[in-house]
Amino acid sequence: MPKHFLHISDYDTDELWEILSLARELKIKFHKKETYKPFQDRSLAMIFAKPSARTRVSFETGFEWMGGHALFLGPNDIGIGKREAIKDISRLFSRYNDVIMARLFDHQHIVELAEYADIPVINGLTDYNHPCQIMTDILTVWEHRGNLENLKVCYMGDGNNIVNSWLQLATRFSMHFVCCGPEGYEPDSETVNMVNDSDLSSYELSHDPLSAVKDADIIYTDVWASMGQKEEAEEREKIFAPFQVNRSLIESTGKDTLFMHCLPAERGREVTDSVMESSNSIVFDQAENRMHAQNAIMVYLSQIMS
Ligand code: CP
Ligand code: NVA
Repeated sequence: MPKHFLHISDYDTDELWEILSLARELKIKFHKKETYKPFQDRSLAMIFAKPSARTRVSFETGFEWMGGHALFLGPNDIGIGKREAIKDISRLFSRYNDVIMARLFDHQHIVELAEYADIPVINGLTDYNHPCQIMTDILTVWEHRGNLENLKVCYMGDGNNIVNSWLQLATRFSMHFVCCGPEGYEPDSETVNMVNDSDLSSYELSHDPLSAVKDADIIYTDVWASMGQKEEAEEREKIFAPFQVNRSLIESTGKDTLFMHCLPAERGREVTDSVMESSNSIVFDQAENRMHAQNAIMVYLSQIMS
């Protein structure tokens, strides 16, 4: 059975460090424009049921830099689960391709895609999680801080797919993770329990931005209405307004706090333009690292397949 990349919690801490270290090596090669083609004559099928800028461009550019060919299949192309059963797509693509990356709505659909595939399946975001993003995020934190010790991460906003992956990461890397948002928008409770059961990290739920961000090394936010929830955007804008990341919040931490966002950002909503443009913001280093982290994930999966 191929090993897939569906959840951070499918990997142990040593395996995650191996992927992160590989990402740093591949980043250096990419910047030096070294020739590196482990995927010559290989193909990557990229299935998107939702829109994307970073995921599409970073996977396609990264895989082609590594010598392979990437195929973009957009929301109207294959009709996964509608025109054709998910398990049929798995077996079909396993005959044509070497890797599948998929961005789907229902998390169970990517689990099913992987179950029937003979080739590695990489999760490019579901309604439940976004593991490639969070590998990128921790890589970026490691680069900026030089280590991951005594880390306090404060996430402001909706308890969504980004938070669920951060929580899974907290079961593998020690941190104090605070999720601060309005009541009723908490992250998945089973995933919170994974952190509490791990005895590695501490989890705090807060509804008070000022106390939540105190001593935070990282303030992280994401859109208030994720893909698939855009019809709730107007209502959510009122509910989430007190949780906006603005200059006064970032200046109240008592530390030189870094600002992160998975992007795309809705400037003026979850984050102000001035925070996005500030010296605290590392959002573009973070976005660049999508490609290096994912390249490392693909190389790692191909190595354990061979
Ligand atoms: N962060 C992220 O996944 O961006 P896209 O939705 O543009 O791929
Ligand atoms: N929570 C966001 C993340 C986008 C990268 C969404 O699912 O739309």
